[in-house]
Amino acid sequence: MPNPHGVLVVDFGAQYAQLIARRVREADIYSEIVPSSITAAQVSAKNPEAIILSGGPSSVYAENAPSVDSAIFALNIPIFGICYGFQAMAAALGGVVSQTGKSEFGRTQLKVSAGSKVFASLPTEQRVWMSHGDAVTEAPCGFSVTASTSDTSIAAFESANAQLSGVQFHPEVLHSEHGQEILKNWLVNIAKCSPTWTTANIAQTEIEKAKKQIGSKRVICGLSGGVDSAVAAAIIQKAVGNQLTCVFVDHGLLRSGESEQVQRDFVASTGVNLVVVDAVDQFLDALKGVSDPETKRKIIGREFIRSFEKAARDIASGGEVEFLVQGTLYPDVVESGGGTGTANIKSHHNVGGLPDDLKFSLVEPLRALFKDEVRNVGIELGLPEEIVWRQPFPGPGLGIRIIGEVNRDRLEILRAADLIAREELKAAGLDRDIWQCPVILLAEVRSVGVQGDGRTYGHPIVLRPVSSEDAMTADWSRVPYEVLEKISTRITNEVREVNRVVLDVTSKPPATIEWE
Ligand code: XMP
Repeated sequence: MPNPHGVLVVDFGAQYAQLIARRVREADIYSEIVPSSITAAQVSAKNPEAIILSGGPSSVYAENAPSVDSAIFALNIPIFGICYGFQAMAAALGGVVSQTGKSEFGRTQLKVSAGSKVFASLPTEQRVWMSHGDAVTEAPCGFSVTASTSDTSIAAFESANAQLSGVQFHPEVLHSEHGQEILKNWLVNIAKCSPTWTTANIAQTEIEKAKKQIGSKRVICGLSGGVDSAVAAAIIQKAVGNQLTCVFVDHGLLRSGESEQVQRDFVASTGVNLVVVDAVDQFLDALKGVSDPETKRKIIGREFIRSFEKAARDIASGGEVEFLVQGTLYPDVVESGGGTGTANIKSHHNVGGLPDDLKFSLVEPLRALFKDEVRNVGIELGLPEEIVWRQPFPGPGLGIRIIGEVNRDRLEILRAADLIAREELKAAGLDRDIWQCPVILLAEVRSVGVQGDGRTYGHPIVLRPVSSEDAMTADWSRVPYEVLEKISTRITNEVREVNRVVLDVTSKPPATIEWE
C-alpha cells in the first residue's frame, strides 16, 4: 500500500466491496480490496490505517461461511463492520448473531441513540438502506448499542472509543441519506486516517512509479481515443517524455471526427510522439462478406494486432522497445480475480486484445484507479475535456453497431446518424448524464416510409441511450421527448438512407448495451 497506508476493505463476496472502496477514496483516503481469507500477519504486513469488513451474501453460521482471521481484532487497528461484516465482527468478539425471522430489505428508518461517536452531529432519525435476514441479537461485551430500527434492536454498535464499530445497514449506498458522512466521520475523526489520496498526489505517485519502472528504456502505448488509454499515455509521457511513442490505429470503424480529434487534441495538449496507422482498407477488406458478430469481433481484433505489431516493429527499428502501456483499471483487476481471490467475473479485453506474445513488459499506471479517478487525473494532467469526459466506445467501434455486413456505404450512413445524435445530446446538456448512447444501423432490415411525395424503402436506426455506473448493469435513459424528436427529425431529414428512428427501452440485463 502507498504511504500513508489507507484502508483495507475485506471482501466477503458482496458486490458492495468495490462501492465501499470507492466511498473511502471519495473521502480522499486510499483503499484496497482484499479477500476475507487474508491472515492477521498479511494485514500487519500491509500496515493499514483502518479496516472495513464488507457485506456479503452468507449467514455467519452457515457451513463454509466466509470469516475473517479473528486475530485481526487484536492488532490494534480500527475496524468498521458493515452488514455481514458487522455480524462477523459481533460473532468474533463474543456477541450473538441469530435468525430473528425479521428481514429488512431496502429503505428503513433508523433511530440513533444519544452519545454515539460514529453518528456524532448527525440526525437521530435517518433513512438507511438495509439488506439482511440475520441480525445481531447481543452486542459484544463492553460495546454500546447506538442505533435501532423497528425490526432490528441492534442496528449499530461501537466500543468505548468507537475504534471498533459497525452498522447493520449499508452506509456506502446513496439511499442511506447520511451514509458517506458516517463513513467519513469514522475514518477521519475516529480511525484518524490521513486524507491524502488527492488527485494531485495520485498523478504524482503514478508518474514517479512509471519513471522508476521504465528507467531509460523505450515504451509504446496503443491509443484508442478513449479516456483510459489517453490518461495512461499522459502519465507515461510526463514520466519519460520522448521515450514514449503512442500508436493510433485508424481502422475505419471510428466515429466522425475521432481520428482527427486524437491527433489534434491529444497531441496538442501533451506534445506526445504519435504514429497514426492508416489501416482502413486492411480492415474493410478483411470484413468483406462477414455478418456474424463474433466473427467480426475476431477479425477486427486480429487486424488490430497486425497493425499494432507492424507499427511496433517500425518504431523498434529506432531502438528496442521494452514496455507496453495498458489502461487497465482497478475494477478490471478486481473483477479478473486479481488481488481479491474472488471468482473471475469477466475477462477484460483491451482494444483488439493484444496478444501475450507481444513480448513487452506491461506498464499499467491506472491499475489502482477507478474510472472517476482516471478522469480527475486526466484533468489534473491538462487533457482536454473532450477526451476526459468521452463516453465509453467499444474497441471494435462501429463494426459492431452495423447489424450485418460492414462496408463503406453503411459506415457513412451510421457515422452521419451517430454524429447527429451526439450533437443533439450534447446540445441538450445530456452527454455527461448518459453513460453512452450507441447508435445502431439495422443494415439488413428495410422499412417502408414516405418522404416527399414518394414511398421509400430505407433502414431503421436504433438509439440506445443508457445510464450506468460501470457498464455491468444499465438502464435505458429517459431522454426528454423533445430531444428524441430533434434527433429523429434531423436523422431522417439529413441521412437519406434512413426513414425510421427507434428507441431501445431495454435494461441490461436482459439485453446488453451494444447490439452485437
Ligand atoms: P455490453 O454490450 O457487453 O457492453 O453490455 C458493456 C460495455 O463494454 C463496451 N464494449 C466493448 N468494449 N471491446 C471494448 O473495448 C469490445 O469488444 C466491447 N464490447 C462492448 C460497451 O460499449 C459498453 O460500454
